[in-house]
Amino acid sequence: MKEEGVELIREGKRLDGRGFDELRPIKIEVGVLKRADGSCYFELGDNKVIAAVYGPREMHPRHAQDAKMAVLKYRYNMAPFSVEDRKRPGPDRRSVEISKISREALEPVILKEYYPKTEIDVYVEILQSDAGTRTAGINAASVALADAGIPMRDLVSSVAVGKIDGEVVLDLNAVEDNNGEADMPIAMIVRRNIITALQMDGRMTREEFEKGLKLAMNACRQIYELQRTALIERYSEL
Ligand code: CDP
Repeated sequence: MKEEGVELIREGKRLDGRGFDELRPIKIEVGVLKRADGSCYFELGDNKVIAAVYGPREMHPRHAQDAKMAVLKYRYNMAPFSVEDRKRPGPDRRSVEISKISREALEPVILKEYYPKTEIDVYVEILQSDAGTRTAGINAASVALADAGIPMRDLVSSVAVGKIDGEVVLDLNAVEDNNGEADMPIAMIVRRNIITALQMDGRMTREEFEKGLKLAMNACRQIYELQRTALIERYSEL
């Protein structure tokens, strides 16, 4: 809900100085955790996220195994100190929903059939949040899966677009998200132009939706290049 008198756009710029089609600064670090098979630290503006991947490992309980392929698990978790008001620790409806859509966003690129009867565990920890944490989590998880050596068709890249003060803008921060009219996170396989997740909170017209989708797809291309570069840098050092 918009607070009275909050102005999100002034003289064609957003409150943090960005243009409508600008991403927040992104920082990616690969292999930050010693004990995980793969890991990634991802910053998107004031969002700080870590993804850790374990597996493929034998799945327990055995009755939950899939004889034909690996089972992908994804746990999105917000640290109590990651939000303005302390977040009550533990799962809630929001984190269950985000875990589900994030898993579904990544599943199409993972060659699960290579590892029957196993599980691949993805843990995403939100250390600091400023809207867009699910997209930052998907970006981090995608890189961490590659770092773990999980066979993948490609990476998945993710960003949100939305509408604030009547304008379609890229990558909303928390003030914009809280006071804006719509928020639409998407995830995609950039090189194949396949969208693997799309959600919409609020309302946009068809034209706004199409404009937003174009903005998001362009931004995913930029994020994809950063993800690739981070992986190449990590492994060319060795
Ligand atoms: O983070 P994301 O945009 O993917 O999800 P959201 O549900 O649209 O939440 C937007 C933002 O609201 C989060 O990034 C947090 O900054 C904030 N939030 C919060 O302060 N407390 C919560 N329990 C949930 C979200």
